[in-house]
Amino acid sequence: MQTIKFFSGQNIPLEMHRAKVVQKLTLVDIDKRKQYLDAAGYNQFLLKNEGIFLDMLTDSGMSAISDRQLAASMLADDAYAGSRTFFELEEKIKEIFGFQFFLPIHQGRACEHLLAKAFVKPDDVVAMNYHFTTTRAHIMTCGGSVVELNLKDALEINSTNPFKGNFDIDKLKALIAEVGAKRMPFVRIEAGTNLIGGQPLSLENIKAVSKICRENGILTVLDASLLQDNLYFIKVREAACKDMSIRQITRDIAEQVDIIYFSARKLGFAKGGGICVRDQALYDKMAELVTLFEGFLTYGGMSITELASITQGLEETMDFNMISQGPQFIAYMVEQLDQRGVPVVKPAGGLGCHVDARAFLAHVPQAEYQAGALAVAIYLASGIRAMERGTVSEERNADGSEHFADVELVRLAMPRRLFTRSQIDYAVDRIHWLYENRALVGGLRFVKEPSVLRFFTGNLEPTSDWVDKLLAKFKADFGDSL
Ligand code: F0G
Repeated sequence: MQTIKFFSGQNIPLEMHRAKVVQKLTLVDIDKRKQYLDAAGYNQFLLKNEGIFLDMLTDSGMSAISDRQLAASMLADDAYAGSRTFFELEEKIKEIFGFQFFLPIHQGRACEHLLAKAFVKPDDVVAMNYHFTTTRAHIMTCGGSVVELNLKDALEINSTNPFKGNFDIDKLKALIAEVGAKRMPFVRIEAGTNLIGGQPLSLENIKAVSKICRENGILTVLDASLLQDNLYFIKVREAACKDMSIRQITRDIAEQVDIIYFSARKLGFAKGGGICVRDQALYDKMAELVTLFEGFLTYGGMSITELASITQGLEETMDFNMISQGPQFIAYMVEQLDQRGVPVVKPAGGLGCHVDARAFLAHVPQAEYQAGALAVAIYLASGIRAMERGTVSEERNADGSEHFADVELVRLAMPRRLFTRSQIDYAVDRIHWLYENRALVGGLRFVKEPSVLRFFTGNLEPTSDWVDKLLAKFKADFGDSL
């Protein structure tokens, strides 16, 4: 957003859009919230939406669509094969990224499935700045392993590094020397990094990674799911890019890589996804997998109306005002919580506001899932659904032992253009109350644990009667307030 200074000197995020359609929300009382938690096995993913006030679980597919997106989807050309709407999206990809080929794929992890199937063999090593849950699971399913080449700063909660998502370039060189390029089918660049707080990479770092990979004949794959926030951060934090347009920055990034994939549930403000490729041979290798697993090459398992919406959404991603809204609301929430002493990931990143559960619940052992417990406590105190991004989101080690996460975070996602500032103020108020009462919060344990991606469908329970105690304190402090 262009700078707007306030006479008061306050730093207030200002929406450059207006609401045209709204949805009614309900906030159920705390006794009901406890019942919803019981029914959901203390897993936020299993909560019924009817019990949720502000859904901050994810931004995935949750951003408000624009009037132009809605209009575009009405004009979509419905056809199993050869839809005009597909070719318009393909043209938009060419225009924005400069890539010749586009494979429509129904969501981000389905792109990861195809990429892993096409390129990863047993014993291969895929390097990345940081892993993402579904990406790693697909690579491991194909017999490969993931090596994270993050900076030390990446895992520091309280940092001033504006690009905590950068690769450690020395680690990349050392890995290639150790493993050999032959066993490295590609290097995956996640812009920005989901699990460490939506932290961006710099254009300079992407260029450095690309140069090394090209010298060694290793493909580079950009996960552009969170690119819109990363573009914003490159423009406002990277001095060399401050006068570049978002379009120029996007093109510069695209020139560095061989393949781009994205979840359009994030990039493009819609639903769906796709893989963009430059090279015909790479395209052919994956195209047959699209028809096998996804759908025909001009819809890829998506509704045509979504394809039209993505095309318009990508265009809006090039609008600095549009993509500023998310990061600025996140920065506001981070600043408000920080002022109240609540431990949050700094600097503010993209995607959402990330609370440091390890510091928040220092008295709860990591084996009792600090981030999972904090997400439960936040829901109980506010009706807000947040996401556990800690040990519950990890897979167990091969010997069945717990694999502890590097960081225990609770993410309050900020779907774009969705929440108002007063809703954020409500979230800040309740989390602040919870922080003052954190001693009452205890841990969780699994009662039903799936072997893959357990965080989605696992069931947990509190390790003591702490939920009842927290509920009683809420009633004592708030009376009959919701
Ligand atoms: N890559 C990144 C960086 C993501 O954040 C996600 C999804 C995916 C890939 C997978 O895409 O959901 O369309 O299959 N992140 C969501 C989240 C689920 O809530 O952070 P998908």
